[in-house]
Amino acid sequence: MLIQNPIRFISAALFVVSAILNLPLYAQKAGKTDAIYSGLPWYDQNGKVVSAHGANIIKDKDKYYLFGEAHSDTSNAFVGFNCYSSKDLYNWKFESIALPVQASGKLGPNRVGERVKVMRNQKSGQYFMYMHVDTLGYKDQFVGYATSKNITGPYQFKGSILFNGKPIKKWDMGTFQDKDGTGYILTHGGVIHQLADDYKSIIAETNKQISSGFESPTLFRKGNTYYFIGSNLTSWEKNDNYYYTATALSGPWTSRGLLAPKDKLTWNSQSTFVLAIEGSKDTTYMYMGDRWSYPLQLSSATYVWQPITFSAGGISIPDYIQSWTVNTSTGEYASKKSDIKVIENTNKLIKYKGNWKHLSDSISTSRSATRGNAFSFTFKGIQIGLYSLSLPDNGYAAIILTDKKGKILVKNLVDTYTKLPSSTMVFLSPILPKDEYTLTVSVSGLKPNWSDKKKTNYGSTDYNISLDKLIIKE
Ligand code: DGJ
Repeated sequence: MLIQNPIRFISAALFVVSAILNLPLYAQKAGKTDAIYSGLPWYDQNGKVVSAHGANIIKDKDKYYLFGEAHSDTSNAFVGFNCYSSKDLYNWKFESIALPVQASGKLGPNRVGERVKVMRNQKSGQYFMYMHVDTLGYKDQFVGYATSKNITGPYQFKGSILFNGKPIKKWDMGTFQDKDGTGYILTHGGVIHQLADDYKSIIAETNKQISSGFESPTLFRKGNTYYFIGSNLTSWEKNDNYYYTATALSGPWTSRGLLAPKDKLTWNSQSTFVLAIEGSKDTTYMYMGDRWSYPLQLSSATYVWQPITFSAGGISIPDYIQSWTVNTSTGEYASKKSDIKVIENTNKLIKYKGNWKHLSDSISTSRSATRGNAFSFTFKGIQIGLYSLSLPDNGYAAIILTDKKGKILVKNLVDTYTKLPSSTMVFLSPILPKDEYTLTVSVSGLKPNWSDKKKTNYGSTDYNISLDKLIIKE
């Protein structure tokens, strides 16, 4: 937690961001996305980037509802909590700003609202939204709540949830609903609070602090075991998330180590929720994490959603599955088999503008850090994706996809920075009518960069972007 605006960056960024993002994006038609793709922008039915971070999902009747923080590209101020719906967990329809910025007060202008979670109270049928409320400098945190009769809102903000008449003065929070419908508030450090039957107050501290860090608390149950996942404290930077298990929420909690292989930084993400996708044959437990991208959290922060693997040794996300499918009727998941054509960075049909370094170590890649340098590729087909070698000195790549008349269909800035080098897909276009298109990717001259309250600097050291390969679907 704890962030301060890098003012110098923001003023330079604003010019480029507005130049790049002012046009509407291509509307993704419902039913068109065919899998869960981690680490790249998703588009809703209006062609806007899906903005729902620190999120959770609840199933209501035959639909899944995703609640998360809406973001802007200019500051960390609360801009509302968004609600999206989906039947397949791939295609997200924007439903509402379920809780907008309030006219004044604790969730009014220039405040922080994060880690929104929604649960349905089974007795009253009402929907309860819980969140971290704070000042912009993260100095007045508490757990707040809001209620609504309808799942999509509008939710009425009620202020702080109280325990013995006092607020819970913690920042990162989460929720957990047990099989018997009892609701719990989780806070950083691993503290668990039991909600009253009506979900309007807290009646017990079920579990005391387990660990000094443990932000983004995420709890789920499989059988008689509770799994409690959390992150280290590194502001918006990713780290190796870890977990505990117990057979009762009151503990004792046993430390079980890391959720993903060491130094993979939880596949460049921070936990927020685990969704149990229960079907007729199986249950897939889907880890939901955020790949933050400060300060361009609207355009460039993405989602890392991965199936959790269970074994006698515990839980794990042993590999990064770039794209996978889940059958919401049977509950089974599978890696997505791709029918794509690969265009390597050395392909003669790729047009490079300006000076680029063409490197071929373990990965063949082309790199440049000079603003305005670009590459473009014209193809016939229905979809194009970009793989990039993300590195600690990489910045934002400006993506423009045009049709053969030059009309812009998609514009976005994608983040190609990571502390830990990795070659992953960072952009995938919506599925388009079969035709001729041109993808142009340029060095934006922007990079993710910020400092926390202790003046610790985070983020990239340069503006490089890189091209490993393009993939096209014909
Ligand atoms: C990490 C937290 O988990 C996020 O929710 C957010 O508060 C950031 N810190 C802010 O730096």
